[in-house]
Amino acid sequence: MNHTPKRYTITAALPYTNGPVHIGHLAGVYVPADIYARYQRLQGKDVVFVCGSDEHGVPITLKAKKEGITPQQVVDKYHAIIKQSFEDFGISFDNYSRTSAKVHHETASAFFKKLYDEGKFIEEVTEQLFDEEAQQFLADRFVLGTCPKCGNEESYGDQCEKCGTSHNATDLINPRSAISGSKPVLKETKHWFLPLDQYEAWLKEWIVVGHKNDWKTNVLGQCKSWIDDGLRPRAVTRDLDWGIPVPVDGADGKVLYVWFDAPIGYISATKEWGEREGKDWEPYWKDEDSKLLHFIGKDNIVFHCIIFPSMLKAEGSYILPDNVPANEFLNLEGNKISTSKNWAVWLHEYLDEFPNQQDVLRYVLTANAPETKDNDFTWADFQARNNNELVAVFGNFINRVTVLTQKYYDGKVPQPGSLKEIDEQTLKELRAYPEVIASSIEKYRFREAQGELMNVARLGNKYLADEEPWKTIKTDEERTQTVMYVALQIAQALAVLSEPFLPHTAAKLNAMLGHTSQNLTWSQVVDGKELMVPGHSIGQNELLFSKIEDEQIQQQLDKLAASKKENEAMNATLTPQKETITFDDFSKLDLRVGTIIEAEKMPKANKLLVLKVDTGLDVRTIVSGIAESFSPEEIVGKKVTVLVNLAPRALRGVESQGMILMTENADGKLVFVNPDDAVPSGSTIN
Ligand code: 2FM
Ligand code: ZN
Repeated sequence: MNHTPKRYTITAALPYTNGPVHIGHLAGVYVPADIYARYQRLQGKDVVFVCGSDEHGVPITLKAKKEGITPQQVVDKYHAIIKQSFEDFGISFDNYSRTSAKVHHETASAFFKKLYDEGKFIEEVTEQLFDEEAQQFLADRFVLGTCPKCGNEESYGDQCEKCGTSHNATDLINPRSAISGSKPVLKETKHWFLPLDQYEAWLKEWIVVGHKNDWKTNVLGQCKSWIDDGLRPRAVTRDLDWGIPVPVDGADGKVLYVWFDAPIGYISATKEWGEREGKDWEPYWKDEDSKLLHFIGKDNIVFHCIIFPSMLKAEGSYILPDNVPANEFLNLEGNKISTSKNWAVWLHEYLDEFPNQQDVLRYVLTANAPETKDNDFTWADFQARNNNELVAVFGNFINRVTVLTQKYYDGKVPQPGSLKEIDEQTLKELRAYPEVIASSIEKYRFREAQGELMNVARLGNKYLADEEPWKTIKTDEERTQTVMYVALQIAQALAVLSEPFLPHTAAKLNAMLGHTSQNLTWSQVVDGKELMVPGHSIGQNELLFSKIEDEQIQQQLDKLAASKKENEAMNATLTPQKETITFDDFSKLDLRVGTIIEAEKMPKANKLLVLKVDTGLDVRTIVSGIAESFSPEEIVGKKVTVLVNLAPRALRGVESQGMILMTENADGKLVFVNPDDAVPSGSTIN
């Protein structure tokens, strides 16, 4: 969009309602979307910011099956938790809806029906995967198999999480049912397909040509790759019993594909908001002067850039997204965030452990946002950014200004004397920041924008350090008044400019500065309006941020370590029992207690040790693949179990005359099967 939009329609991906939300969700989607929405509102723009729970789809049915409850119970539980987390973290949705809402069922059904009536779908009987044990068709996440593109053996039926490719369940190699584990058969069923191939040329023109300069490279790259691979018709209905019934005759037992209904959820959420607020929702979705933006994670790119726009185009009366600023993923302490492995920082748990410190997390997630590549969240970085940046830079400046104002002027903004060059220069620099920050936000570069916000606090700190009002107070009252006046202008500008990033802090800071509600706009900072008027009384002092101690961080690391351990224990796969053998078979094995009397490394072999073992019968050479677990010195004198009648074989030219029995401990390290030290070498084991 080249001209100034009349209004902004901002959407944030509807989270699946099969679990709580974690830092990855916040960093990738909700904090950036919220910064953008809050910033536009501060600019006085007409904004609607919507989201809601994505309550259909297979993950929810699977969760219900696993927990022995109904899908409705699953979504009711998590909708409440997720909604609360968003509120707690200050994600300022104008409406947080849910796809089980009546307005959404009606909107999605009507959308489908319009496309159906206008002949925009292909109706086709095709063979789909069917689980004979569960007597159920297997769509999307009900089926797992090998991704035809990257070979990932754990790809879902609709999408491979490893390479991001979206495909049909029948494309999977070696498919298996996620319900019973059985191998599915093919069975005929009728479905409706959106012929994406017919939209290919148009998509190419709209995205690859039209948005080549304003969409993020990661988004453009994915879009180009799908378009270049060739688009195929995509089924938009499913044989499932959880979802929105297909609203046409002959579709019993069929529901809309979750990725058909979910993005329509943005429209339903806007409608619901309009009804509640007495506003007309339609211009937000149908007027070309509205700027539509979808904030999402990279796994949702195809749905928001290819499939949903094709649906909107087919429908005909909607605008298209102006941008889809998708983020990459956030990892946690070097590993992919995983719900099933409990490798995550859950928002509701964070708040129990760091009460009222929402903004610290918002700050750290933005400072380290995965905008151009996957990034890593570490607790050490969290602590450092809080202590060295929020406390030491932002908090320190505000604390100095407010404490000195209370001390010197009884909490009243002093009357400045004549401004020196440094004062003029500082105020000039201050007035330039809003535009710098705004320009980064407009380009969806939120970490850069937040960095500039911190530079405002740095400007304040430097100004105070240079002008030293705590010294001039003893010698020059007028100068001190001027310096404190200028510092108070910077403090108030920080309260305005930090609101999109740190809304709780901004509210607290406004109250500390004696402004109970946000009554200044972004442009007033630019215009050089006097933000703090002489004589105005500031409020009570409070600490904006507090230091995070090592013990708090250690607790979080311990919690993650416990998750890791639990996971490893759960995943430790036992080798299945081997084929049954007879007693005669067993008695053929001659197992003896032996003692290692010499050990040395096999030259040019990383894994092998050459051992001399006293078997009681003789002293013999045994070559053993244990060099990565033991040094030669540490095993001399060890009692071991030896299979002495194994046929000799040459290893690297050395004849090995038996085998030492080994096992592995929980960390995967080799350990000896040790007989008691008191048992003499040569004793038989049977
Ligand atoms: O990936 C997800 O969590 C999906 N539930 C996002 C849906 S976004 C939209 F289209 F509704
Ligand atoms: Zn793949």
